[in-house]
Amino acid sequence: MSVILTRGRVPRTPHTEFYSEPEVLALEEIHGSLGFSGDWSRKYHYRKYPTQIIRDPHRLPLDLRPQPLPPLPLQPWHLRTGRLKPHGDVVSGRVPLVYGSNTLVSAARFERSCPADRFFRNGDGHELWFVQEGRGLLASEYGVVPFHAGHYVVVPKGTTYRVELESEDCWLLVVESRFPIHFAPHYLNKSGQATLMAPVVETEVDVPEFRPPRDEEGEFRVWTKHGGGFMTEMLLGHHPFDLIGWEGALYPFAYHTDDQHPLARRIHTAPPTRQTFESGSAPHSGFAVCTFKGQIEGWHPRDVPAPYAHFNADSDEVMFFSNTSYGARKGIVEPGSFTVHPGGLPHSPHGRAAKASFAERGKLSDYLAVMLDTFFEPLSVAKQAMPVADKDYPTSWNRDTQGISAA
Ligand SMILES: [Fe+2]
Repeated sequence: MSVILTRGRVPRTPHTEFYSEPEVLALEEIHGSLGFSGDWSRKYHYRKYPTQIIRDPHRLPLDLRPQPLPPLPLQPWHLRTGRLKPHGDVVSGRVPLVYGSNTLVSAARFERSCPADRFFRNGDGHELWFVQEGRGLLASEYGVVPFHAGHYVVVPKGTTYRVELESEDCWLLVVESRFPIHFAPHYLNKSGQATLMAPVVETEVDVPEFRPPRDEEGEFRVWTKHGGGFMTEMLLGHHPFDLIGWEGALYPFAYHTDDQHPLARRIHTAPPTRQTFESGSAPHSGFAVCTFKGQIEGWHPRDVPAPYAHFNADSDEVMFFSNTSYGARKGIVEPGSFTVHPGGLPHSPHGRAAKASFAERGKLSDYLAVMLDTFFEPLSVAKQAMPVADKDYPTSWNRDTQGISAA
């Protein structure tokens, strides 16, 4: 992220003598990305390095790898994530939905906080969450980031964190990318600052609230995800949230979709207008994430608010419907529906949805959906998602639904 923060105490000159307290040398660590060339943060540990594990690492039985399906015909998918049963915590509660060579998307419906002595670190991917339901605290070495329904939360790869639930359960869409995740570059200037025509404003980004260092001894488990879904436990003899200070541009943050300021046009706009995040080197790798947030629909006297039939041959497109106000697929989708449209197939609004959408012309809509389009990365549907797959989806465009005929 382009906003560089300083929290707690840090020396003015990097990598120079600096003390947590008299006679206790602070120990410096760089949390970097893109081989010391991307975003980074400098952290100062109170008295111990994060490498000081007190027992040999051991593999846990938890296996979060997406399982492949047997070869199937090319088809669109509809996965009803709201029908998954809440279980586990923010790590063990993940159910893989789709996966590719650089991207994994899971749904996490979970009901427990992480235990106080257990922490998670994703060694595979940078994470982007969309919070569908629930509220809680993302606690990390950088501080705490509160979140609730409607938030995006970005957690850089390698961040050590745990989640404390403040609601009975929680429902997240979790995107993992091999590449860093940042705001859409076409809305940033050359310095990385959001331009004055961007839907995003930096002052509305929720950055970590710093907490005093935990200079504590004990046994603290750090679970690290690796190899696409394996989990290894490292045991530290000191609390991992022991920073006396940090500075840099790589840290977790939240951004609420209510703070997305959509840009309206007299006629329909294509998705890059609605883009919030990007990962990788578009348009060659990674993905774009767009926020379909209610806005004034086109006010041209003959505007068609429903989208056109479309496909991007170089992208697989997935869409998470937070609510069902998105007219294009009314009667087919439910809250938490996750559709998968492979690049080789066009998809479209439902039958007569285009005509029905005339009534929305010039009005404020209230839909909320999150779309992810990969670049040159085919996605496969995971076997774990099959219990909530809509088997009738491929022919759904040819069916009558609530008040909208297919004919
Ligand atoms: Fe689409």
